[in-house]
Amino acid sequence: MDTQQSLTSVYFSYLQQAACFASCTMFWANKIKLLALLVLPFLAFLLFQTFYHPSYSPGLIGKSSHKHVLILSSWRSGSSFVGQLFSQHPNVFYLMEPAWHVWTNLSCGNAGQLQMAVRDLVRSVFLCDMSVFDAYMAQDSSLFQWETSRALCSPPACHFFNREAIIPWADCKTLCGKQPFNTIEEVCRSYSHVVIKEVRFFSLKPLHPLLTDPSLNLHIIHLIRDPRAIFHSRKNIEVELIADSHVVMGTQWKTIKKEDHPYYMMKTICQSHKEIYEAAQLLPDSLRERYLLIRYEDLVQDPLIQTAKLYEFAGLPFLPHLQKWVQIITQGKGMGKHPFHTDSRNARNISQAWRWSLPHDRVVKLQKICKDTMDLMGYLPVLSEEDQRNLSMLVLSTLELP
Ligand SMILES: *[C@@H]1O[C@H](CO)[C@@H](O)[C@H](O)[C@H]1NC(C)=O
Ligand SMILES: *[C@@H]1O[C@H](CO)[C@@H](O)[C@H](O)[C@H]1NC(C)=O
Ligand SMILES: *[C@@H]1O[C@H](CO)[C@@H](O)[C@H](O)[C@H]1NC(C)=O
Repeated sequence: MDTQQSLTSVYFSYLQQAACFASCTMFWANKIKLLALLVLPFLAFLLFQTFYHPSYSPGLIGKSSHKHVLILSSWRSGSSFVGQLFSQHPNVFYLMEPAWHVWTNLSCGNAGQLQMAVRDLVRSVFLCDMSVFDAYMAQDSSLFQWETSRALCSPPACHFFNREAIIPWADCKTLCGKQPFNTIEEVCRSYSHVVIKEVRFFSLKPLHPLLTDPSLNLHIIHLIRDPRAIFHSRKNIEVELIADSHVVMGTQWKTIKKEDHPYYMMKTICQSHKEIYEAAQLLPDSLRERYLLIRYEDLVQDPLIQTAKLYEFAGLPFLPHLQKWVQIITQGKGMGKHPFHTDSRNARNISQAWRWSLPHDRVVKLQKICKDTMDLMGYLPVLSEEDQRNLSMLVLSTLELP
């Protein structure tokens, strides 16, 4: 700000000099000089305004304002969308699924064996220590889906976009090309918030040391979704999920019948959500307030209110351009690719696609497997095929959280 003030005063002293010049000397002889004197400082001032961002300087951000947010979820639960809500915030450095590298590189291990490696990687990323990736990826390779991180698509990583802009990942991938790995630590340190989205934790236990670590200010957003909707959505991209499913099932994937794989996965997912939620309730108050449960269905229903809640939890301002953006992307119509629709009747239809496309016997089987989790999270079972197909029958109850 000091620099700005002195620039302004320099500008005015130039103005005074210019006025003096104009009155004391021949007007025509000095016209060019006057123009230069007037215009150049003004241009400099404009350039300064455009490129100077206080947030560039990590020194300006007090340590206490640093926050680390973990979006804890499962596959096909809207976590990419919630991730984007944070990624597009100009105060946030975001990475999506950094532990993908652990699972991919150590694919011979199972989820349980890998959870500590995943935990340690997440801790390092929160502290902007990216050397941890050396263990899991070759030097010249790029981070998994780096282009979904707005921070890696804007200065100092990439100069095609502004830090305050909403940056679509496809544009970033085209324009920023290969993500320069050597700038990631610098980029990370220039933000007040580091946010990570992970679907690779199945319990709160490995995260306990992170919650109590004084060098971290960890906040956990636990995002859940109706298991029947997850099941339906997973069905459409089963092939892409095979590698992950094998890590979850471990050696059992050979002994379990292939048609039972989706149910085994859902059982693991439902159990993990229940365990995480219950473990969070047992945390001491000081830690309990660092945990927030959110249902995807509630977010779809009320995107602005729920997003405001998420930002408030993370200590981020809900900036006007983000409010506008959330409004736009959540008002898409039809069955478009975007996972997020709130257009009244249509949205209801889409978020409940499982009701008309899943066979009733499968829904019944799933409701049995996930019963405890569904009861706990307010997902109501359908008791007959008629009820399943009748969209006027409610399948969601209000969640009364302590
Ligand atoms: C695992 O990571 C190492 C670098 O630490 C790399 O050389 C190797 O190619 C990776 N393997 C796989 C399967 O990705
Ligand atoms: C929901 O969408 C499906 C598939 O497009 C359609 O067959 C069905 O009639 C829709 N139902 C409602 C209530 O809009
Ligand atoms: C659908 O459910 C609603 C609400 O329970 C009920 O009033 C209605 O009769 C049902 N429609 C059919 C066709 O069963």
